[in-house]
Amino acid sequence: SKILIIDTDTAGDDCTALLMALRWPGVEVKAITTVAGNIPLHLCTRNALTTLETAERPDVPVYPGAVKPLMRGLFTAEHVHGPDGMGGSNFPEPSLKPREEHAANAIVRLINEHPGEIEMIAQAPLTNLALAYSLDPSIAGKLKHLWVMGGANNFLGNDSPAAEFNFLVDPEAAHIVVHAGFNLTMVGWDVCHRQPVMAEEQLRLIEAMDTEFSRFYMKVLRTNMERGLKQHGFRRLSHPDTLTVAMAIDNRVMARSNRYYIDVEHKSELTKGYSLVDLNNILKKEPNAEVCLEADLERFREMVFSLLKQR
Ligand code: BDR
Ligand code: CA
Repeated sequence: SKILIIDTDTAGDDCTALLMALRWPGVEVKAITTVAGNIPLHLCTRNALTTLETAERPDVPVYPGAVKPLMRGLFTAEHVHGPDGMGGSNFPEPSLKPREEHAANAIVRLINEHPGEIEMIAQAPLTNLALAYSLDPSIAGKLKHLWVMGGANNFLGNDSPAAEFNFLVDPEAAHIVVHAGFNLTMVGWDVCHRQPVMAEEQLRLIEAMDTEFSRFYMKVLRTNMERGLKQHGFRRLSHPDTLTVAMAIDNRVMARSNRYYIDVEHKSELTKGYSLVDLNNILKKEPNAEVCLEADLERFREMVFSLLKQR
């Protein structure tokens, strides 16, 4: 079975990504670590606990982590995910509680307890992972695989013209992580933005399922869908975090990828968080990442449908 740690700024698509990992046969979620990003940390933690309750997986521990980026103030994305990060659905306060241990400590401890066995999915600003690496750099060689949802393959930013949100919120952390020597795969914003990952047609099918999970899906992604409606005239979702989890579960979802040298800009005000992918090997540096170039969206959609039909 696959053993995962998921690091998340739990809002919207982060929740469906968690739901998929928590309910997928053969996947063991060892821990969920939360980090400030989409919304402030306490809400990320609360939403992760709500998602555990929905998934009926109260056994999975949640470790709260960094309340802000390494060197900068936090800015959030309530305009994308709603004031609560859950589409403004006002879920009741979860009865589950988070653990005391800090996310960075938990990451270091778990990787050392299971060297070579754990895969980590980082679907949020990379603050927790940069902190964990600073506490114990040996984790880079002991983690089986690091899947990073973040960055964008050459200037397809979503939160600045040059940068994707997760890298933009904590560019220093992203810079530390891409150079740390992890066995890293980058799933950038470009992969899920060139064409809609879920469009009106698929969203209608999901709505019509009317299962407990499909209703959860429609709630947590409500603000995001309404935003698509305003911008494009129809509902659409890019689903970057769930897509990354799906790739970790079934590598065939990553239709095309290649090894490249990547770097993250963190000094410029204009282009901070920009992820450079040396597509033409101009720098002649050793590749430090597998970069996803294209997703198999049909396969991904099938995975989401089968997940939401479960109950
Ligand atoms: C990323 O930013 C967040 O809003 C999403 O949760 C995703 O992880 C996309 O840029
Ligand atoms: Ca996220």
